[in-house]
Amino acid sequence: MRFKYLLILPFIAVMLSANAQSKTNADSIATKMQWFADAKLGIFIHWGIYSVNGVDESWSFYNKKLPYKDYMSQLKGFTAKNYKPEEWAALIKESGARYSVITTKHHDGVALWKTAQSKLNVVESTPAKRDLLKPFYEALRKENIKCGAYFSILDWSHQDYTGFLKDSSRYKIASQPERWKKFQSFYMGQLKEVMGNYKPDLIWFDGDWGHSNEEWNAPAVRSLLLGYNPNVIINGRLQGYGDYETPEQNFPITRPKFHWWELCMTTNDNWGYHPDDTNYKTPSEVISIFVDAVSNGGNLLLDIGPAEDGTIPAPQVNILKELGKWNKKYGEAIFETLGGLPQGHFAGPTTISKDSSTIYLFVPGHLSGDVTIKGLDTKIKKITALNNGENVKWKIVGKISWSAVPGLVFVHVPPTVKDEYMSVLKVELEKPLKLYRGSGGL
Ligand code: GLC
Repeated sequence: MRFKYLLILPFIAVMLSANAQSKTNADSIATKMQWFADAKLGIFIHWGIYSVNGVDESWSFYNKKLPYKDYMSQLKGFTAKNYKPEEWAALIKESGARYSVITTKHHDGVALWKTAQSKLNVVESTPAKRDLLKPFYEALRKENIKCGAYFSILDWSHQDYTGFLKDSSRYKIASQPERWKKFQSFYMGQLKEVMGNYKPDLIWFDGDWGHSNEEWNAPAVRSLLLGYNPNVIINGRLQGYGDYETPEQNFPITRPKFHWWELCMTTNDNWGYHPDDTNYKTPSEVISIFVDAVSNGGNLLLDIGPAEDGTIPAPQVNILKELGKWNKKYGEAIFETLGGLPQGHFAGPTTISKDSSTIYLFVPGHLSGDVTIKGLDTKIKKITALNNGENVKWKIVGKISWSAVPGLVFVHVPPTVKDEYMSVLKVELEKPLKLYRGSGGL
């Protein structure tokens, strides 16, 4: 499934270059993407009936780990009784995140709002008995956090969707095109509700694999959304009709080709609530992955999975808080910056200020001694440590007077610069950044 998804990425690129043909269109995409490019960090929330028994979200019945009816019996246990959306929003704010994406409906088809398209929603079919999205989006907006709506376009519970369990499907579109049309109007209807009721800033599709853009009617879906809000951002899981790429869990080694991208990642190994999964990433690991994503011009969408009553597991709260503490100290090097130096100039993550007069170097917390910058063709004005403002010394090594190749910059990281997780050095330049990218020599 994930490989399948990767195969569609070139189509997304094609789509973007098609957009680029019209400058106005490209400009308006860049304008609408600006808040996203500046935001760097989002919090993903997987909340649904799967949290009742702590089973895999939707996949548990699809993969036949448990019978569909046992999975659905979790409806009875989904109470949301300790749900405090303001506290969720405050925690997200504290983490430093600037947007949040919640599962309005996962592949199991259980909607977190009272959809007119189906009774399979938490208002009519669970003891929670209320719209869970509205108060969350309101709380986010009060905190000035952008609102994202995850929406599974496939729906394994819907009688008119083609797929059901991993080894069984309901029908083939070619043999029952009318039935597929019914399904199309079902998801279009739900999307209208999501757009109309909550006015999200971002739609995060999932589950587009298995059908082509024609089958999904992807251009019509895209224009429907843009009709509600011309500035809505659409992730890349719409068979070529999205605005940005979404590598999942696996960290890209080379910079993704697509201009905007976002790594979505779990805090432990599961998207939803899984009390038996204690394989949490440490704050230090999360921060270094976050910094790496930003250094490569991307965002991190970090997932949490609340329990059925709305409690966020303590280790996830801790990760968000630690991330927040770090962002408070070093946010200048992260938010509203540009992706950093291309590979080869610095052995670690970097970012660049928008006016390209400053480079931020990220140095693992335990490191002191020298780090080097290669190929820096602009004079350094000064280097300071972001944690304490201390001046940091540097030395240019191997500069040959008659050669165009810049010398190596040895930056002497003093022990006092040390951060528990990741230290940051601020390199201010005399002029906008210029890099030497050659292979050396005369
Ligand atoms: C995958 C899974 C899904 C999860 C999503 C998050 O596509 O199908 O369970 O919600 O990734 O990115």
